[in-house]
Amino acid sequence: MTIKLKKETIEILEVIKKKRSNIEANNLAKEMDLDYIVLMSAVNELIDNKLGGFEEEEIHQISLNDEGIEYLEKGLPERRLLNILLKDNLKEITKEELLKRSNLTQSIFYIGISNLKKNKWVTQSKATGDDKLFVIIDDFPQSKLELFLEKFKENSVMDHSSLSIDDLKLVDSLNKRKLIKKTRRTQRIIFLTNKGEKISLSEIEELKQVSKITPEMLSSGSWRSYDLKPFDVTKPGPLLKAGKIHPLVNLINEIREIFLSMGFTEIRGPIIESAFYNFDALFQPQDHPAREMQDTFYLNNPKTAKLPDKDRVLAVQETHENGGDSGSLGWGYKWDVNNAKKTVLRTHTTATTMRRLAQFYKENDKVPVKVFCIDRVFRNEKVDKTHLAEFTQLEGIVIDDNVTLCDLIGLLSEFYRKMGFKKIVTRPGFFPYTEPSMEVSVYYDKLSQWLEMGGSGIFRPEVTYPWGIKEPTRVLAWGQGLERIAMAYYGREDIRDFYINPLKWLRQQSYLK
Ligand code: PHE
Repeated sequence: MTIKLKKETIEILEVIKKKRSNIEANNLAKEMDLDYIVLMSAVNELIDNKLGGFEEEEIHQISLNDEGIEYLEKGLPERRLLNILLKDNLKEITKEELLKRSNLTQSIFYIGISNLKKNKWVTQSKATGDDKLFVIIDDFPQSKLELFLEKFKENSVMDHSSLSIDDLKLVDSLNKRKLIKKTRRTQRIIFLTNKGEKISLSEIEELKQVSKITPEMLSSGSWRSYDLKPFDVTKPGPLLKAGKIHPLVNLINEIREIFLSMGFTEIRGPIIESAFYNFDALFQPQDHPAREMQDTFYLNNPKTAKLPDKDRVLAVQETHENGGDSGSLGWGYKWDVNNAKKTVLRTHTTATTMRRLAQFYKENDKVPVKVFCIDRVFRNEKVDKTHLAEFTQLEGIVIDDNVTLCDLIGLLSEFYRKMGFKKIVTRPGFFPYTEPSMEVSVYYDKLSQWLEMGGSGIFRPEVTYPWGIKEPTRVLAWGQGLERIAMAYYGREDIRDFYINPLKWLRQQSYLK
């Protein structure tokens, strides 16, 4: 089969054949007055036809930096100092005087002095009382360093590999004097394969290739003499930078799907919440530290919130004061309705699930009720790698007869399993509104570590009785920070990334989710 190559490729092949070895791509491009890209695309054509190839080699080069170039032009400081002495035929001079005459900066002057002595061009003595330099010889041949420096006049860039051991020592002293720049680049050496070396140009035909057939080619019939350039279907398409759904929203949607598939319904609640639903209804005493301003954002406007029907407020009040009908002794203090009316930015979505208990009472609902809530919460917290002051919580409750902690563990295991976490452990925990309480951790394969996910438990009678939810009806409840799951899910180490939005990372996210 005859080989067909493009015209430039045939020309390049011809040149390479004549040269035989050590053909560096950049040099060849320069020599043939070709664009480097054109040359390399011809080389690729040789590769496709198994006629040639290239090897990459890393080369280290050195050249003078600005200070080095200045020394090359004006001489090293030691030479310049010597010249001052020779010009006026001085055999001795104090350092002070020489510094004055030299016009050099102190630091360069002392480098010069130390090399003057190293070259044995002067000696130093304090014998006369002054710190003096003496010239005691008359011949000052160029030092090895000076001779080497001169070489940069012809070759401003030198290959490290072409230098002798002695030269390398000199490079080292230039480097110590901070006079050189080191650069690294990759060069490509072009070669021919056996086939490429053997093939004679008469065996090669010129390839006339086009990527498009024009109407003119069709009407004249000239299209027949062209080869059509094949499509390279392996080439990636152009990079698209179109908008896409934010990773956090994608995750929320995924979690929604999971809960919906498990038979849950979504609920939402207000961001501006009453202390009543945020704390009191959850049996958190009015002097509980979590209620303090340093943990919770209180609002001035609106200053007070509307509470539910009077009898329910009273039921909550009685639970706090003496346990009401929950069988508890309560906290034993005087509950103040004004504290309950305060407005806060919801500190947890448990306030929203609490509202669902109130609705359960009001509408005389039937069990089971299974709801979840994914929504924004606020805490007066210092923001850092693992904390946000404004974040998202994922929360759920099941109201049903005779449900137990086992049901809760089963439910959470199922949820995290669907999220892709295979191992979960639960440990006893504490929350003022659940008994028993449980903390959940999941095993995160990518980091080989356990991550604490959130809290859960069975609402205490003090929480459920005011809403008519009484034994054997119970409420399983859990809640956790969504961004914490997102960190594990997306492998981010800084929780703030979800809001700072590093563009590079966002661009790596897939369009389809
Ligand atoms: N509200 C708790 C929190 O914000 C989580 C929780 C919800 C714990 C429900 C127990 C039951 O961390």
